[in-house]
Amino acid sequence: MILNIFTILILFILIVFSTIQFFNILFRGYAPLISTNKNFIKKILEQNPIAKNSNVYELGCGFAWFLSEAEKKFKDAKYIGVEYSFLVCLLAKIRLLIIKSKIKIIKQNFLKIDLSDADMIYCYLIPDIMKKLSGKIQNECKPGTIIISYRFSLPHIKLKNTINFGKNRFYVYQL
Ligand SMILES: C[S@@+](CC[C@H](N)C(=O)[O-])C[C@H]1O[C@@H](n2cnc3c(N)ncnc32)[C@H](O)[C@@H]1O
Repeated sequence: MILNIFTILILFILIVFSTIQFFNILFRGYAPLISTNKNFIKKILEQNPIAKNSNVYELGCGFAWFLSEAEKKFKDAKYIGVEYSFLVCLLAKIRLLIIKSKIKIIKQNFLKIDLSDADMIYCYLIPDIMKKLSGKIQNECKPGTIIISYRFSLPHIKLKNTINFGKNRFYVYQL
């Protein structure tokens, strides 16, 4: 009996989550939840070390894998994940609590977040959002800010280099 109620509850949560995701992807142009491969993140961080006291943002952080890998390797920085989905935020916060992380997760549309103090930004989104994000970054971010984007480039910002793992490409920018 208890098992049945639990199964129904999980199914209900999954249906609500999928419906909201579907609505947001289709009508609001948000990126779907797909995580970056951890091995790629480790290699990206080897090539892009994070300086002490940096402010590092993961925009559309999902479960915040980029930030938690970065925090493991570079402890003296401030890590902020921004995610619009309530359920994903909740699961990310639980995961971070379990691993005793200091990463801060903000439940918000990242287009509404002030990025003026960012030293590094990581994102894995979709092309439509990249256009809006590019304008925001050019208006708000300070010179020197590093932006790393998985799979999709940022229009109108000069590319510093790309990092490729087979067909998987990361675009690196520095303002
Ligand atoms: C492709 S996933 C990437 C997740 C994570 N950054 C990673 O690389 O493992 C994109 C995430 O961005 C979130 N997202 C998309 N558009 C967003 C927006 N405008 N504001 C906040 N989060 C957003 C989605 O909910 C999803 O979790």
